[in-house]
Amino acid sequence: MFTLIEKALTTSSVEETLACTRQAFLKASSTSIVSDGNERVILPISQVAFPNKPLCVPPRDVPRRRLGSEAGKRSFVHAIAHIEFNAIKLALDIAYRFKGLPKQFYMDWLYVANDECKHFEMLCEHLKHYDCEYGDIPSHDSLWVMAVKTETDLVARLSLVPRYLEARGLDVTPAMLDKLNAQKDTASAAILEVILEDEVTHVEYGTKWLDYVCDESGLQREEAFFENIELYLKGQVLGPFNRPLRLRAGFTENELAELERLDKRPLR
Ligand SMILES: [Fe+2]
Ligand SMILES: [Fe+2]
Repeated sequence: MFTLIEKALTTSSVEETLACTRQAFLKASSTSIVSDGNERVILPISQVAFPNKPLCVPPRDVPRRRLGSEAGKRSFVHAIAHIEFNAIKLALDIAYRFKGLPKQFYMDWLYVANDECKHFEMLCEHLKHYDCEYGDIPSHDSLWVMAVKTETDLVARLSLVPRYLEARGLDVTPAMLDKLNAQKDTASAAILEVILEDEVTHVEYGTKWLDYVCDESGLQREEAFFENIELYLKGQVLGPFNRPLRLRAGFTENELAELERLDKRPLR
C-alpha cells in the first residue's frame, strides 16, 4: 500500500497519480491489517512530482476567473480542478509521510485522496464543455507550499492543511454556488455541491486526527492549532467563516470566535 502511495506521489503523470491512488485506497480497504512499523523509508517531500502542465505562475499572474464570461468560467472550473489535483497529493502525503499511526489514520487519508480523485475527474469531464483540458491554463501552487513547510510536523500539517486550507473551501464555496445557481449553471453547481459535502468530512478528519495526535503528545488541541496558525500564517487569517459547516467539521465555538478575532485584527 505504501509503495502505491509513493508511486502516486512521485509520478508526474496525472493518469498514474489517479490509478495508484485508487489502487492504494482499494488495498487499504481490503487488507485486514496495515502494519506501519518504523522501518519504512520515506522520501523527502522535494521528490513529490507534479505534471509539467499547468504552468506554475505566481498567484497574481493566474488568469481571471470571473463567472460572468465563458472564458472566466473556463478559468474558474480549471482552477478548481487544479485545487482538487493538489488535494490528491496533499491527502496522499499525509498518509505517506507520518509513521506509526493507527491503521484508521491511513485509511481515512486514502479515503480523502480517493474523494479528491473523484472531484478532479468530475471537473475534467466538465472542462470538456469549455474545450479545455487540465493543464491548459497557468495555475499557482500555494496549497503545496504549505505541505512543504509542514513536512516534518504532523500537528502543523493537520492544523494548516485540512483545518485551514481545506476548511477555507467550506467558507467560500456556498457563495460560488449562489452565483452559479443565479446564472442557472446547474451543471457546475451540481459538481460543487458534491465537493462541498465531501469536504466537510475531510476537514472533520483533520479535527479527528489533530485531536488524536495532541492527546498522544499531551497537547491541548485548541492551543496547538492556534500556535501553528500564528507560526505559519503570521496573522494572515482570512474570514468570514462558515459557522454551520465548520461546526459540523469539528470546530468548536471557541475556535470560531478566536478565528473571527484573528480575521478582524488589524494587519501587522
Ligand atoms: Fe476535493
Ligand atoms: Fe478535500
